[in-house]
Amino acid sequence: MSKYEQAGPGPDLSQTYFATGREVDHERARLERLAAEYDPWTQDWLSDVVSVQPGHRVIEAGPGAGSMLDWLAAEVGEGGEVLGLDLELRHTAAPVDPIRHRQGDVAAEPTEPGRFDLAYARLLFEHLDAPEAALAQFAAWLKPGGRLAVIALDCSVTRAEPGQGETGASFDRAVEVVTDALAASGLVDPVFGVKLPDVLAGLGLDAVKTRRFDRVLEGGSDWAVFLAENNLAIAAQLGVTGPAQIVADAMRRPGFRFRDQALVGVSAVRL
Ligand SMILES: C[S@@+](CC[C@H](N)C(=O)[O-])C[C@H]1O[C@@H](n2cnc3c(N)ncnc32)[C@H](O)[C@@H]1O
Repeated sequence: MSKYEQAGPGPDLSQTYFATGREVDHERARLERLAAEYDPWTQDWLSDVVSVQPGHRVIEAGPGAGSMLDWLAAEVGEGGEVLGLDLELRHTAAPVDPIRHRQGDVAAEPTEPGRFDLAYARLLFEHLDAPEAALAQFAAWLKPGGRLAVIALDCSVTRAEPGQGETGASFDRAVEVVTDALAASGLVDPVFGVKLPDVLAGLGLDAVKTRRFDRVLEGGSDWAVFLAENNLAIAAQLGVTGPAQIVADAMRRPGFRFRDQALVGVSAVRL
């Protein structure tokens, strides 16, 4: 059993989406910050591996604040179609052609089989209780030859950069406690990005390709402070606020350097 697969004595949050019940403006600001940080890398990746064309039909599951819906709409143009499917769409601006919205659960929503050229999602499937089944359901929206493009987290790489003494060592220990608690709770699978290529191959998808977004961050940078706050909010749900405070303090400290959680982008083709 890996350190991220244990069943622990903590809360069982496997049926919970972690942001449910959060104050609307706060959650919208969080989703907008997430998008601003990850959109440039995501758009480069999609342009390289998928090449969205004018007239294409695209579905995005879990669009959050909706910035990728807007980018996809500009790529497909007025003759195309962009469908945003989310449990709650109140963080997204009202849709304008060619964008449509549908409120629903990606794991349960009836599909329009064979309709779409691209099915795209970022930071969604690691939150679901049965991500493999949900991915199979998501792939069913695709026409034969259509592409699935999914981005998920790999938190196993988060650690202090070498040479930072006791601060670095205590950061690494505290990160492991929080990550283990996260995995044990079922709230998020913190290493789903690592599993994703095998999951897509196991669904019978073809031409599975992976690209990673790995980087080292400076403590006290805007993104590091955002991560620190996110970490504290999630740790409060898990009951591990002590270790999360150690992690957050280091992330907020100028001069401290650490490896960020990675994004793993995996694309595949429906046969
Ligand atoms: C962590 S946010 C990521 C938002 C956006 N994809 C991004 O990367 O900026 C996850 C999004 O998925 C949505 N979501 C969560 N569970 C879902 C489900 N079962 N079906 C559809 N959407 C879901 C949430 O409402 C939220 O908008």
